[in-house]
Amino acid sequence: MRITVLTVLAFLATLPLSSVAADAVRGRTLYEARCNLCHSSSVHSRNPRTAQDFDGIRIQVRRWAVETGTGWSPGEIDDVSVYLNRQYYRFRCPAALCGNEQASIAR
Ligand code: HEC
Repeated sequence: MRITVLTVLAFLATLPLSSVAADAVRGRTLYEARCNLCHSSSVHSRNPRTAQDFDGIRIQVRRWAVETGTGWSPGEIDDVSVYLNRQYYRFRCPAALCGNEQASIAR
């Protein structure tokens, strides 16, 4: 019985704080599985970058997700976009996706 309670608590601890916000950890896993084949992270730091704001990142992620046949859902595309934004771009991000994190992101 005790193990069951601990197991449930451990599971709850892995859930995102807000079910609305996208999951950057899952985004990283998806990105590393499908997107690191051609470009290293440097493509996201080049100058000039194709993506000029958060929507620009999402357009590129969707484009590459389709081109490489990932079959990602809109939610998975959001997760990867939030991961890339947090890791490299640091654009302002819709609160619905990034939650309170937005406040800490410098433009
Ligand atoms: C077949 C090789 C290849 C794969 C696989 C690939 N990319 Fe790319 N990606 C490129 C190349 C080449 C560029 C730069 C030229 C361009 O933007 O068309 C690029 C550019 C990008 C950019 C724009 C960077 C900028 O300038 O801001 C994003 C975002 C991106 N890729 C995301 C992804 C994601 C997400 C995946 C996985 C679904 C992915 N890529 C898989 C080759 C690839």
